[in-house]
Amino acid sequence: MASPNSTVDAVFDAVAATAPEIRAALPGRRVESGTENASGESVLAGDLYADELLGEAITAVDGVGSFVSEERETAVDAGGAVGSGHDDAYAVAIDPLDGSSNLRSNNAMGTVVGVYDAPLPASGRDLVAAGYVLYGPITTMVVADEAGVREEVVARDADGGVDRSVVEADLSLPGTPTVYGFGGRVPDWPADFRAYARSIEDELKLRYGGAMVGDVNQVLTYGGVFAYPALRSASAGKLRLQFEANPVAYIVERAGGASSDGTGSILDVEPEAVHQRTPLYVGNEALIERLEDALDDG
Ligand code: AHG
Ligand code: MN
Ligand code: MN
Repeated sequence: MASPNSTVDAVFDAVAATAPEIRAALPGRRVESGTENASGESVLAGDLYADELLGEAITAVDGVGSFVSEERETAVDAGGAVGSGHDDAYAVAIDPLDGSSNLRSNNAMGTVVGVYDAPLPASGRDLVAAGYVLYGPITTMVVADEAGVREEVVARDADGGVDRSVVEADLSLPGTPTVYGFGGRVPDWPADFRAYARSIEDELKLRYGGAMVGDVNQVLTYGGVFAYPALRSASAGKLRLQFEANPVAYIVERAGGASSDGTGSILDVEPEAVHQRTPLYVGNEALIERLEDALDDG
């Protein structure tokens, strides 16, 4: 099922086309690269390889004017006047390998993509599409755009190309929540979030895998709530707005759920810098409302 927007479809074609190659390269790239990224986090060889492949594929798409990555300090000019309303009006932000610390332990990880029609850093309201590839037992890709949210299986086809087959054409959050996953360490949670977490623990099943894409995919599949909260030691939390929080918030909200930075939708968080962090809470609407009330009561 193609996106109504040809550039969006071309971007996700490009992302899907790199998936089998990135997956095949992971076993040999579990080591530290010896470098740090703009967020001051150590970078694995897998992060760099995925960033290289995706950077090449995405900047080659007609209609993409600029490209931003977790692994690059600044935006890469892809030759277009972003936000100009012309057909090269799109800026793409990616987390090439989300949850790469799971590489050593062979747990799920993936790639996060946001397609904005404004120069970056941009508001989540400027997203025209968002998605993620999930390297689990199966390689899947979730794509959200104006047409809705769908899940695809991405696999090599008979003649070495890549096949995208839609397995869920209308992905929506189940009404009854089942799972939760909260990042950070309990002693580092502020008291108001800790009280909220206690109430959730009494109701839902803990499913925390240490990779946002895997943990959010569980919430989309089973219903519930994922959070990487504001911490005592880091009031902005850990996740980055442009290429982690905004895309995931866009997807979950399009799938009938809600997102928050603790006070309101992630999509309304003021963009200040490409690598800025934000607390991230996403999931069933009622659980996010309860969270905002809990943080309100302080
Ligand atoms: P990345 O590998 O792109 O840096 O992202 C890792 C993030 C996110 O995927 C996950 O939710 C979070 O880090 C896990 O953090 P902890 O290891 O602190 O749980
Ligand atoms: Mn990440
Ligand atoms: Mn990453």
